[in-house]
Amino acid sequence: MIRNICCIGAGYVGGPTMAVIASNCPNININVVDINSERISKWNSKDSNKLPVYEPGLAEIIKKCRGVNLHFCSDIGKAISEADMVFISVNTPTKKKGIGAGQASDLRWIESSARSISKYAEGETIIVEKSTLPVKTAETIKNILYSSLGENNTCKFNILSNPEFLAEGSAIHDLQHPDRVLIGGDNEEAIEKLSEIYLNWVPSNKIIKTNLWSSELSKLVANAFLAQRVSSINSITALCEETGANIKEVCNAIETDSRIGNKFLKPGPGFGGSCFKKDILNLIYLSNFYGLEKVAEYWEQVLNINEWQNKRIPEIITKNLFGTLAGKNISILGFAFKSNTNDTRESPAIGICKKLLEESCNLKIYDPKVNEDQIKLDLLSKQSSDIADKDYGTFERVNSIDESVINSDAIIILTEWSEFRDLNFSELIKIMRKPSWIFDSRGIINKTEAISSGFNVWEIGVGVDI
Ligand code: UDX
Ligand code: ADP
Repeated sequence: MIRNICCIGAGYVGGPTMAVIASNCPNININVVDINSERISKWNSKDSNKLPVYEPGLAEIIKKCRGVNLHFCSDIGKAISEADMVFISVNTPTKKKGIGAGQASDLRWIESSARSISKYAEGETIIVEKSTLPVKTAETIKNILYSSLGENNTCKFNILSNPEFLAEGSAIHDLQHPDRVLIGGDNEEAIEKLSEIYLNWVPSNKIIKTNLWSSELSKLVANAFLAQRVSSINSITALCEETGANIKEVCNAIETDSRIGNKFLKPGPGFGGSCFKKDILNLIYLSNFYGLEKVAEYWEQVLNINEWQNKRIPEIITKNLFGTLAGKNISILGFAFKSNTNDTRESPAIGICKKLLEESCNLKIYDPKVNEDQIKLDLLSKQSSDIADKDYGTFERVNSIDESVINSDAIIILTEWSEFRDLNFSELIKIMRKPSWIFDSRGIINKTEAISSGFNVWEIGVGVDI
């Protein structure tokens, strides 16, 4: 029976996952540790608005469990030495340089976690891979664990793969009611111990047990399939705009086929988030590594369409605003990669805003949960020659929809936050320049109301209505 868990990495995966385990397993003591001490103090903040991760329902669980059986701390050594089970939930971004740059995952944080485990673990410890990882990483972890053990150290490690399937914005719901829990490994006893934890709230028929490699690969494949649906529907949006078909009508018509279904068919400015692109790149790298070029090419197309869709949107905006944005004011509504999260990793808003800034306009960006520092970090991480360029546009983060819209020539909806679904068009148009445009890249507004209030509207997968 597991009594003490250590989770390495207090990020978007580690924080919410451990909160839900703590809440369902009052008899297990959990220490969540991180090398980033600022992040740990944010998790310990009494003010729920200061938690480093925004997820609906998360603050309530933290309030209930923190200091009881859930602890956020920086003493990594102590937490590992006390643990029967260590979860690795660290970041695994795509490598920026060196072998596999642009495709393979950067495993330096996995390696340093494995080294810490090897240094501090006592007795028999189960290691659980939670981070999304390339296939066969468990083998690497095992090698690091044993090769960095001292000579007289008799520690024993069992490695399991237990990939995370939570989607940001609905993490607590997904963790509480998972479609399945996947556990891969070769040690029956270790698999049973992890499975016992989940059985506290997950029905047994939802727990799938596989070998290590199937589990690691399944995570990549699940994300690749979901991303592929988004790219498929996004590729059709352009065709609809050209032909006069309406993407919503097309979606409605195809999703009633129970074999297709209605999930992951919402058109948008391209998928973002920390997983989809990274996992497909991993799949491509793996396929090429095994000489399966055709397989690699197939998945590359999913990424190509995503990039193409993202570039298409600023081009459409510029074209409709008389081919020039110089000196124009643009209201950006939404910066997170999807609603209900403060995460901006790979957000389609970043590429779109950068392209608009190259057209010398002024952006006023409003997102309910993304703060100014993050927006600056995302938009200023570009060629330094661009920043020096006097012609480059300006941007600022504002605190409300009205502040963003006042004196603007156009409103661009980039994230599907619920507060952008029922904009008060008849009031907003009064504070805008004329002609007033709205570009809806998520297809969420009440278009009839916008048009009758005097807006020119462009909607994804439909085109322009004036
Ligand atoms: C994804 C997987 O869903 C999750 O199972 C895995 O554990 C991590 O990766 P996440 O990236 O958090 O989760 O969010 P998701 O809801 O999958 O959305 C990813 C991107 O696709 C977002 O940018 C979203 O806006 C976009 N998307 C999603 C669409 O454009 N249309 C859709 O219909 C669905
Ligand atoms: P994810 O979305 O996968 O959770 P995040 O970047 O949000 O990714 O979180 C990963 C966390 O892991 C970061 O807070 C980072 O500081 C932490 N981390 C990375 N390497 C280590 C390590 N060796 N020991 C402890 N924490 C680590």
